[in-house]
Amino acid sequence: MQFLESVCQHTVGRFFTVESPSGCCEFLSGSLLHEVFHATMIFLIGLIVIVIGTTIAVVRSEKPIKHIFAEAKFEMIYNYIGSRSIFEDFIMRGRNKTKLEKKSGKVVLITGGTRGIGTEVIKMLMQCDMHVVMGCRSVESGEKVLKEIREDVKLGELKIFQLDISSLKSVRNFADKITSVYTQIDCLVNNAGIMYVPYAESEEGYESQFATNYLGHFLLTHLLLGLVKKAGRDGENARVVNVVSCAYLTGDIDFEDINKKNMFIPFEAYSQSKLAQVLFTNYLNETLKEKGNYVQVHSVHPGIVNTDLFDGTYVKTFFWWILPYIFKSPKRGAQSIVHACLSSDLEGKGATYISNCTVKPQIEKALDKELQKKLFDFTKKLVNVENFGT
Ligand SMILES: *[C@@H]1O[C@H](CO)[C@@H](O)[C@H](O)[C@H]1NC(C)=O
Ligand SMILES: *[C@@H]1O[C@H](CO)[C@@H](O)[C@H](O)[C@H]1NC(C)=O
Ligand SMILES: *[C@@H]1O[C@H](CO)[C@@H](O)[C@H](O)[C@H]1NC(C)=O
Repeated sequence: MQFLESVCQHTVGRFFTVESPSGCCEFLSGSLLHEVFHATMIFLIGLIVIVIGTTIAVVRSEKPIKHIFAEAKFEMIYNYIGSRSIFEDFIMRGRNKTKLEKKSGKVVLITGGTRGIGTEVIKMLMQCDMHVVMGCRSVESGEKVLKEIREDVKLGELKIFQLDISSLKSVRNFADKITSVYTQIDCLVNNAGIMYVPYAESEEGYESQFATNYLGHFLLTHLLLGLVKKAGRDGENARVVNVVSCAYLTGDIDFEDINKKNMFIPFEAYSQSKLAQVLFTNYLNETLKEKGNYVQVHSVHPGIVNTDLFDGTYVKTFFWWILPYIFKSPKRGAQSIVHACLSSDLEGKGATYISNCTVKPQIEKALDKELQKKLFDFTKKLVNVENFGT
C-alpha cells in the first residue's frame, strides 16, 4: 500500500475545475498553458501509480478488499485536495508577504524544528532578533540546527529543551521546565508533526498522528497558556499558531474509535488529527476572547512542502527529481507560518485559517460550534485536564 499512500497529494488532478482566485489572473495568463501541461503530466503519473498500487494490493490481498477500496477512495479525494493546494502554490510561487521586522526580545516557543519547515521558521524568527525556544526530541539535533543557523544569522537567540510531543508525560516535564525559566511567551507555535505513518500507539496508547499532531499540542497549550496570556495586551495580542494542513478538509472526528483502529488508513488518521487542530484553533480563540484575554489563535497550512516527511514514500523514491518543481521549498513553506506569528495585518483576526499568507475561508465542519465543544470536552478527558488554561 506504500504506492497508494504516497501518490495522492502529489498529483494535480481536476485542474480545469479550479477557479482562478481573484487578483491573480494577470499573473496567470502567461504561464497557464505551461502549468496545465505540467499538472496534467503529474496527474497522469499519479493515476497510474494509484491503479498499479491498488492492483498489487488486491493481488497480494494483505488486507480485506473492502479496506483496500476504502483506502483508494479516500486517497482519490485527498488527491484532489492536495492537487488544488499544489496548484495554488504554483500560482503564488513568486509571492512573499513575510516582512521580517525587528521584534527584539520577544519570546516565541516552537515544537519541532530540527528539520524542514520548522528550521526555516526558526531562522526567520531569529532574523527578527527574537528569543526562540525550541522543544525537540533530540537536543543534540537542535544544537546542530543552531550551529547551521549561526552561519547566516547573528541576531536572536535559540534555547533548546528536550520534548517528545507525542508523550503526555514528556509534555508535562517540558512545560514544567519552561514555566520555571520564562515569565511570558509572545507566540506559541505548535509545529511538530508526523504524517502517513503506519499504525502505532503513543506511550499513553493513542494513535501516533493523533497523539503527536493534536493531543500533545492540546496539553502543551493548556500548560503554557498562562505565560501566553501574560504576553498579550490590547492592540498587540499574543498568538498561538497551529500548523495544520489542507488535509483537514477530508477529516472526520471518530469519537467512537479515536484511534481509527477498526479500519486504519494512514491518510484518514492524519486528516482527523488536522481537523482536530483546526477545531481546537477556533474554539480556543472564542473561549479566550470571551474571557477578555489578549490572545489570538491561528491555523496555518504551509503548503505542500518538499521535506523529509515524505521520505520513504514511493513518490519520493521514484519521482524525487520532480518534487522540487511541484512542492514548495521549506523556505517558502515557512513564510505563511512566520506571517501568522508576526504580521500586524492579522492583529485581532484570530480563529482564522491561513494559507499563502492569506486568510482563507474554512469549511462548515470546522466552524461547527457544537463539534468544537464536543471535541474540546472529549480531549480534556483524554489528557486529564479539568479547567483548561488555568
Ligand atoms: C495568495 O495571496 C495573494 C495575496 O498575497 C492573493 O492575491 C492570492 O489570491 C492568493 N492566492 C491564492 C491561490 O489563494
Ligand atoms: C521572503 O521575504 C523575507 C523578508 O523580506 C526574506 O527573508 C525571505 O528570504 C523571502 N523568501 C523567499 C523565498 O524569497
Ligand atoms: C479571536 O480572538 C481575538 C482576540 O480576542 C479577537 O479579536 C477576534 O475577534 C477573535 N476571532 C473571532 C472570529 O472570534
